[in-house]
Amino acid sequence: MAFHTMRNVVAPQFGAQGSTLLGLNCGILSLSETWSQSFDPPPAGCQPAPMPQRERYLFVCTNRRGDGDERGSCAERGSEAVHQALKEQVKACGLAKIKARVCTASCLDQCSTGVTILVEPDHFFYGRVTLADVPEIVEGLARGTRVERLVLTPKDLGKG
Ligand code: FES
Repeated sequence: MAFHTMRNVVAPQFGAQGSTLLGLNCGILSLSETWSQSFDPPPAGCQPAPMPQRERYLFVCTNRRGDGDERGSCAERGSEAVHQALKEQVKACGLAKIKARVCTASCLDQCSTGVTILVEPDHFFYGRVTLADVPEIVEGLARGTRVERLVLTPKDLGKG
């Protein structure tokens, strides 16, 4: 399907927001050779959107289960405050634009060792994280190291 044909299909469905979506599509298409080969080049003025990509992404589980669920949840153990503190301290240390982005996540299936944080692209979990651990985690981000005492072991991971 030609790009201009796709635009004609998508835009009417989204009304005024269609152009925003098309702007995103232009960026995505230009990053994918397979797709760019399938579409006409974007029209003049439709340049790829800058995609700020951090070195690391921290996904903090903020899942909250109902009262009485024996598994508990990261939110019940304070993950929302951990997430907020991480965001604030990463920003305050000047790491937010390049080094790290702190995001929320739903259950990461490591409930027994929550508060759980998944660190990507390094692909490891921090577990049993408390507010007191946040400065050390942020220092590790600045140095490019991890806080080993918080890293979940294979045995931890097996508990789910
Ligand atoms: S509730 Fe946080 S990992 Fe499952």
